[in-house]
Amino acid sequence: MTILTASNIGISFGGIKAVDDVSFSVDAGRILSIIGPNGAGKTTLFNVVSGLYVADRGHVELMGEDVTGCAPEALAALGLSRTFQNLQIFQRMTAAENVMVGRHLRERCHLLSDLFRLPSVTRQNRATREAALALLDEVGLRRRADQLAGSLPYGACKRIEIARALAAEPRVLLLDEPAAGCNSVETEEIDHLVRRVANKGIAVVLVEHDMKLVMKVSDRVLVLERGRPLTEGTPREVRDNPAVLEAYLGKHGARGAARA
Ligand SMILES: Nc1ncnc2c1ncn2[C@@H]1O[C@H](COP(=O)(O)OP(=O)(O)OP(=O)(O)O)[C@@H](O)[C@H]1O
Ligand SMILES: [Mg+2]
Repeated sequence: MTILTASNIGISFGGIKAVDDVSFSVDAGRILSIIGPNGAGKTTLFNVVSGLYVADRGHVELMGEDVTGCAPEALAALGLSRTFQNLQIFQRMTAAENVMVGRHLRERCHLLSDLFRLPSVTRQNRATREAALALLDEVGLRRRADQLAGSLPYGACKRIEIARALAAEPRVLLLDEPAAGCNSVETEEIDHLVRRVANKGIAVVLVEHDMKLVMKVSDRVLVLERGRPLTEGTPREVRDNPAVLEAYLGKHGARGAARA
């Protein structure tokens, strides 16, 4: 079942086409990676799909429903979660509290009952914490639940962000460079985590520069170059496409790499 479809997305900033006629779709339980050199438009595409930017053209569909131009909160409530290239973690909150923030969308809380601290609220808070702890367990951080996020290593914060995105029980998860700044052990953990997420039936769209990770986990790979789609295919097809190497290294570098 197709969960997310983006069709002919285009957006410009001051005359520069950051994303130009890009389309993709991803099915439940599948992993689509979007790769391309710095400035290719990957994050901008995520910003359009997740409702942060309004595109100049194109459409976004979430489970068959046209959600073009919907606000991020509305999209999150409909089942689209994301993480950010630059960490968006509350440093002065614990790991568990950070994940609980992502859970509030699923909660049925009433302001009055919250104000009067009704037993239902206490129950709800306990359930929210339990759910957050289970997610931290899933990303390998259960022991760190009560530590301040600001005191944790970068790779751990990246995984807290993924746990928080999962707390909203998404149908599709957009990950913007989850392995950036991670060492090889942490990258391996991200690899397993991404696969586990997909195995649950969640559609995953992964933006990532770590090619080893991309080649290992992806079902399909879409390559962008200067805002435009260059090619799309299986990891092997993309890896073997000389135009992809050239986009990364330039003509000269690609010839050198081919000789190596
Ligand atoms: N809010 C903005 N205002 C002006 N220009 C922007 C804005 N957001 C993105 N751009 C421009 O759009 C282009 C694409 O940037 P984007 O951040 O999407 O690239 P990227 O593929 O995510 O790169 P990286 O791999 O470095 O993260 C760049 O030229 C960038 O400067
Ligand atoms: Mg980016």
